[in-house]
Parts: sequence; C-alpha cells; structure tokens
Amino acid sequence: MARIYLSPPDLSEADHKAVAAALASNWVAPVGPELASFEASVCEMTGRQAGLALNSGTAALHLALRELGIGKGDIVLCPSFTFAASANPILYCGATPVFLGSEARTWNLDPEALKEALEVLSASGQKPKAVIVVQLYGQCAEMPAIEKLCADHEVALIEDAAEALGASCDGRPAGSFGDFSFFSFNGNKIITSSGGGMLLSNDVAKLEHARKLSMQAREPVTHYEHCELGYNYRMSNVLAALGRSQLADLERRISVRKGHYAAYESALGDLPGLAFMPVVDAEAANFWLTCITIDPLKSGTDSASVIKHLEESNIEARPLWKPLRLQPVFEGIQYFGNHIEEDLFSKGLCLPSGSSLTDNERETIIKLVRSCYNKS
Ligand SMILES: Cc1ncc(COP(=O)(O)O)c(C=O)c1O
Repeated sequence: MARIYLSPPDLSEADHKAVAAALASNWVAPVGPELASFEASVCEMTGRQAGLALNSGTAALHLALRELGIGKGDIVLCPSFTFAASANPILYCGATPVFLGSEARTWNLDPEALKEALEVLSASGQKPKAVIVVQLYGQCAEMPAIEKLCADHEVALIEDAAEALGASCDGRPAGSFGDFSFFSFNGNKIITSSGGGMLLSNDVAKLEHARKLSMQAREPVTHYEHCELGYNYRMSNVLAALGRSQLADLERRISVRKGHYAAYESALGDLPGLAFMPVVDAEAANFWLTCITIDPLKSGTDSASVIKHLEESNIEARPLWKPLRLQPVFEGIQYFGNHIEEDLFSKGLCLPSGSSLTDNERETIIKLVRSCYNKS
C-alpha cells in the first residue's frame, strides 16, 4: 500500500498552471509580480497593512524579533508546547527564552502562566521584551486575555500563526494579532508554497525594513553597500505563484480537514480513554491536524502502540509536540505553568489529516486504531 502521510502537499491542476505561468514569465528569482499579489491576498484576508513573503516561517519570526530590537540579554516568553521553530529564533538573536505552560481549553499558552511570568520577572528587574503566542494545530489561543496582559505590561506581542491560516478568534482572523504575526507554508501546512512563510504587521515602516533585511540589507545605491546585517530570506516568485494558487483553495481544504475530524470523532469517540483535542468553536478552527489523547490506564493501549501499529501498515502518525522545556537544546530554561502539556505529550498523537486523504484511507486508519483496543 502507498504510504499515507500525516499532512502531505495537495496539488491541483490550477497549481501546476500557476507555477508554469510563473516559469514562462521568466520571473523565477525572489522578485516579481506574484510576490506582491500573494502578499496582497494574505493582507486582505487578515486585514493587515503589510505582508512580506519569505522562504520560511522561521525566517519571519527571526525578522519580527529583529524589528522589535530583541538582542543579547533580552527575555522573550514563548509557549513550551510548540515546534522548536517557535523558539529557535530567540536564540538566533542572542536573547533568552522563558517557557510558558498550556491551558486545557485550547492546549495553547495559558494566560495565567503568562500573568505569573510577567509579574515575577518584572518584579525581579527582568521584564520580558516580547511574548510569542502560538495558535497550535489550527486553533487560536485565548487572545483577548493575552492581548490585555501584553498591553498592561507594555510588552510586544508576536503571533505564531504558522499552523492556523484560515482560523479565527472572536471573528478576528489568525495572522491579525500582535505587533507582528506570521504564517508558514511549508510542505505539511494547510496550504504550501513548497517551503515559505509570511510576516505581517500594521507597522508598515518596520515591515519595509524587514523587507530590506530579508534581501541582504542592501542600501539603495548602485554598488553593493551594506550598513546593517542582512539575510537571504526572500521567497521566490515561482513559489509565491504556488502559494497564491493554493490560497484560493483554502476554504475547501478547511472543510475537508474538518470532515476528517468529524469522521474520526464519530468512529473513535466511544473508545475508553480516547479523547479529541477540544475544539472551542468549530467555525473558528482550521482543523489542520486531528489530535487525540489516549489514557493508557483507561484504554489498555497507548499512543506509542497506536503510532507503531499504524506505521506497520505504512501510515504516518506522530506524537504531539514534545514540550520545548523537555528538549535537550533548551535544557535549563526557566518555566512558568502547570505542566499539562507534558501530560498531553505523553498521551497524544496526530492522525493523518491531509486534504488529499480519501474516505477509504481514513476508514483503514480508523479500523487500525480500533484494532489496537481489540488486541488489548
Ligand atoms: C508552530 C510553528 N511555528 C513555526 C513553524 C516554522 O515554520 P517553517 O517551517 O515555515 O519555518 C512551524 C512549522 O514548521 C510551526 O508549526
């Protein structure tokens, strides 16, 4: 059987045509009309003033931190329950991350942990310079509470919406929160530009400066003049064409992924000790991945056995994000929270959820998960 991936790229005839047209136009480098159009489309959907298409979401976060003046000795708060790319750029800047725990309602950054960290660190003269909030697995965090805490403490907010294109919170789109926000368009995201990301802001001047940094910080003179440190972070015009074509298909993709969640829930929801990632508002999530937890004490099986059983049938499932606090590369980093994400990591997994997953493939996955219970 052909391998079933967790969330593979889903390419249409229209995508092929968009890429072919970009190639035929000869705008194949990181400059050209597709870049401006892709940026304008994402700005329109998020209500942001300015967008910058880049070669990754990680690059977008790095530039956001640079634009906020984050440097050596600065503290940046970041959820522990996320992918390493949410925190790595803090280290690129020579700054220090402090990790925050999750809350049970959305699995995202716990406002209580944020409050405690802001108060404790500020009282000891170590006021954080920025907060990164992550919209995990396509569902937004408790944004009003987080925004208020950042405003009260006058701390900058960056929204990592890498996984949340098309999601929203109280009617406000993911990608519209904070001083800066960003999306990822890497191969496993809800839309892909092969690899890529986009930085967004309402601060047009800062965003334009980030644009300059993303192209080696070249000064606007005839020869190559560089007064500040730059990067080669810009997206190719060919990939912007792909991203723009995929974006036009976003609504269908969300509804297919939502269908996977519903089908898994109705077929597996009766199993003892098996729970689904809580979805606070089904109209507001993008259902990027269907995530479940399996309590070994109530199930007689566990997430590692289910992942192994699926793998034996050439099906990819993955554990939930390993909390950054437990990652060797971040050893010794300070933490505020109640460790619920560590429990989620020990019990949780993501099921194949791609928009090209067929009903038959999903049925096979459901049978295999159920058979783990029968075995036990
Ligand atoms: C939560 C989160 N943040 C950041 C990133 C980084 O994005 P990229 O892979 O485009 O660098 C990703 C995805 O990889 C992610 O899932």
